[in-house]
Amino acid sequence: MLKSKTIAGYLTAIFLVIGILSGCTSKTDENPNNNYGQKKIGIIQLVEHPSLNTIRESFINQLEEKGIKDGENIAIDYQNAQGDQTNIKTISNKFVNNKYDLIVAIATPTAQSAVGATDEIPVLFSACTDPLSAGLVSDMEKPGRNVTGTSDAVSAEKIMELALRITPDIKKIGALYNSSEANSISVINNLKQYAQENGMEVIEATVTNTSEVQQVTQSLVGKVDALFSPIDNTIATALPVVSQVANKAKVPFYVGADSMVKDGGLATYGINYSVLGKETADMAVQILNGENPGDIPVKIMTDMDIYVNQKTASEIGVEIPSDVLEEAVEIFE
Ligand code: TRP
Repeated sequence: MLKSKTIAGYLTAIFLVIGILSGCTSKTDENPNNNYGQKKIGIIQLVEHPSLNTIRESFINQLEEKGIKDGENIAIDYQNAQGDQTNIKTISNKFVNNKYDLIVAIATPTAQSAVGATDEIPVLFSACTDPLSAGLVSDMEKPGRNVTGTSDAVSAEKIMELALRITPDIKKIGALYNSSEANSISVINNLKQYAQENGMEVIEATVTNTSEVQQVTQSLVGKVDALFSPIDNTIATALPVVSQVANKAKVPFYVGADSMVKDGGLATYGINYSVLGKETADMAVQILNGENPGDIPVKIMTDMDIYVNQKTASEIGVEIPSDVLEEAVEIFE
């Protein structure tokens, strides 16, 4: 009797130990103490505009939600390139030379630079509209190499369908964008195809930097029934300038992102950038815990919503149909 009790006792003890050990192993994999030692994350953001700021803030918040905090268990070096190509290069090289553990690149031009600067340090891109045509990855499902990220791909077709619900008489559409942004070119190609299939004409006007925006917009408004800008960083940075010119000429201005509506564009059918920042952070956690970026599929945001600007509508004398207003997730006043 006594003996079998002892054996049972031993067995229980052994199982307990095994249980604890195996529990420990799986927990170590998930990094239960969130102890990232001396790990360093470099964040490179292209330029200061509301959408990119939202992404960065939501990324950092979500890391904190997951117990990863700058100055506590990780070091985050945030750098803004102020839209300057030379700065972009200098910052990405600095991150690589300092052997950071993860580079987070917000927007396409910075991602292209980071990807070009290293094939060893994991690069996590954020909000890149078309990672394939930008040359960031060659396969969305299996990116390979040291690169993965999130995409904010939108549909020019869906935005135009919304445009026609609000202002049905569009025949000539003015496309305003920076021709060196791969993220814009891809959406403009989509727009051209839509226009061709639907008997509309696209009139293009491109800029190379924010200082040209006012003049180029001015040259375009007299020739078109509506303006369209994709998710273009240059136009987004100068959005108030464009909307001022467009509103004065009473031309509806359709855009690619919610922040561009908030800043004065008339409407969009777009994604939520707080969610995108959060998703990017979840991928960062995977990479910090040892997963290979090249094995993590690029994440495309699929939830799209209508955003409209009521103030712009009344300034240009357009009445937004009530069914559109009802569907909108956000109406800026
Ligand atoms: N999608 C853009 C890129 O690929 C970056 C971006 C995110 C953006 N949100 C935006 C650009 C809002 C303009 C407006 O570079």
